[in-house]
Amino acid sequence: MSDVFPERVLPAGPITLRPFGADDAEDNRAACADEVVQRWLPLPRPYTLEASVDWCTKTAHTLRESGDGVHFAIVDPDEGRLLGAIGLKRTDWHELVSEVGYWVAPWARGRGIAALATRVLGRWLLTEQGFERLELKAAVGNIPSRKTAIKAGLHREGTLRNAGRLHTGRIDVVLYSLTPADL
Ligand SMILES: CC(C)(COP(=O)(O)OP(=O)(O)OC[C@H]1O[C@@H](n2cnc3c(N)ncnc32)[C@H](O)[C@@H]1OP(=O)(O)O)[C@@H](O)C(=O)NCCC(=O)NCCS
Repeated sequence: MSDVFPERVLPAGPITLRPFGADDAEDNRAACADEVVQRWLPLPRPYTLEASVDWCTKTAHTLRESGDGVHFAIVDPDEGRLLGAIGLKRTDWHELVSEVGYWVAPWARGRGIAALATRVLGRWLLTEQGFERLELKAAVGNIPSRKTAIKAGLHREGTLRNAGRLHTGRIDVVLYSLTPADL
């Protein structure tokens, strides 16, 4: 098994998952600076255009090349506009386990996009990439993300104490998983 995920475009009906590019930088900056995203993800604060260009053109790609995971822009298939982001991180190539993370831009929320993207990425990981387990960790208080996990078909496994970090400090997280038997 290779220890780097391939660069892919994954079409999924009303959304497409594709690699980040320079054209995403302005929308990515606006979404990552959004108050709700900043509340639940410890992204740089303030989130500058410079940081966004760096993510879209370099970091998202070097993380894939390093074997840590793979990062997709979630876009509208017709207009190509950025709607969100989803990625795999902390990949264990020996145990075949990876962890998903996501956000949806304020202008695209309320349509269940994160659940659909998680379902598509999870299936890709556990079938085409031959992995055994997808994990998702959501802050105990992050109800939209916890609902997203269940809607995407993941199973709740329990609470991990003091296992996460936000701008406000350490937090307990709820662990969810998806395995090939769930598909
Ligand atoms: C989590 C997130 C990606 C979900 O975005 P989305 O796919 O547009 O999700 P939706 O708005 O469709 O909501 C998902 C579910 O949460 C519910 N929900 C949304 N806001 C809610 C709120 N304030 N209180 C309670 N439930 C809420 C929705 O009703 C929906 O539930 P349903 O499936 O029973 O209908 C988005 O809120 C986000 O980007 N949050 C900030 C970043 C983040 O938290 N990332 C995950 C870190 S683990």
